[in-house]
Amino acid sequence: MPPVMNAAIEDVPADATPTVLPITARGVAITRAGRHLLDGIDFTLSGGGVTAILGPNGAGKSMLLRVLANLVPPDQGVVEWDGRRPDRARAPRIGFVFQKPVLLRRSVRANIEYALAAIGIRGAMRRARAGQVLEAASLHQLAERPARLLSGGEQQRLALARALSTRPQALFLDEPTSSLDPAAMLAIETLIDAARADGMTIALVTHDIAQAKRLADEIAFVHHGRITERTPAGDFFAGPGSEPACAYLEGRIVV
Ligand SMILES: Nc1ncnc2c1ncn2[C@@H]1O[C@H](COP(=O)(O)OP(=O)(O)OP(=O)(O)O)[C@@H](O)[C@H]1O
Ligand SMILES: [Mg+2]
Repeated sequence: MPPVMNAAIEDVPADATPTVLPITARGVAITRAGRHLLDGIDFTLSGGGVTAILGPNGAGKSMLLRVLANLVPPDQGVVEWDGRRPDRARAPRIGFVFQKPVLLRRSVRANIEYALAAIGIRGAMRRARAGQVLEAASLHQLAERPARLLSGGEQQRLALARALSTRPQALFLDEPTSSLDPAAMLAIETLIDAARADGMTIALVTHDIAQAKRLADEIAFVHHGRITERTPAGDFFAGPGSEPACAYLEGRIVV
C-alpha cells in the first residue's frame, strides 16, 4: 500500500477552508433523561499526533467525539474550533469515521467523489483525485462496487479513505478497527500512521489496548462522562494514575 494517502491530494490548497484547530471543549455537559453522559469536560485537541480515548463501555467516548466534531451541541459549556463556535463552513476540515461505517448507497468511487465535491473539487480533477485516494487505500479494484456490499473491513477502510480524502486537520475515529481481521486492521493502522506522519491531529477511540500502544502519543481516559486522566501514552501504560484506568487495563470490571 502506498504509505502516504495525502500525497494523493497534496494539491488541495491548505487554505481552501479555514483552520479548525485547536478544538477545545470547556465545561461541556450532555444530559439525557436526567443522566449526565458528559460532565464537566475540559479538553483540547491540537498539535498533531494521536490521542487515544480509552474507557469502559458507556463511559461517553462516542458522545465526546460527536460533541467535539459539532455533531451534537453541548447542553452546557462550549466547544470552539480555533477560538470560535463551530460552523458547517469549516466542517470539511474535520474527518469522522463512525463506530459503524456510514456509507452512501453508491459505488466505492462515488463515496470518495462525494466528499471531494463537498469541498468544491469537480470534474476531471475530482475523478483523478478519487482514483489516487482509492489506490492509496488499496480500494481501486473495488472502485465500482456498491459500497454497502463491501466486507466490514473494506467498509471501514473506505470510510477512513473518504474521511482522509479532504485532508482534514482533525480526524475523529470511533473504533475504526472493531471486528476486523489482523490484515484489515493493519491496513487501517497504516493509513492512520501515514496521516499522523503528515501532521494530522487524530482522536482515536479504541478498546484495543495493543492498538493504543502502537498508535497513541497520549491517552485520555474517560469514566462516567469525565476525563479522569490525560497523559503521555508511555506513562499511562507504565502505570495509570487512577483506579478505574488500572481496572480497565487489567480487564477488571470498572465501576
Ligand atoms: N441519545 C442518547 N440518549 C440517551 N442516552 C444516550 C444517548 N446516546 C448515548 N447515550 C448513553 O450515553 C452513554 C455513553 O454513550 P457512548 O456511546 O458515548 O459510550 P461509549 O463510551 O462510546 O461506549 P462504547 O465503548 O460501548 O462504545 C451510554 O450509557 C449510552 O447509552
Ligand atoms: Mg462508543
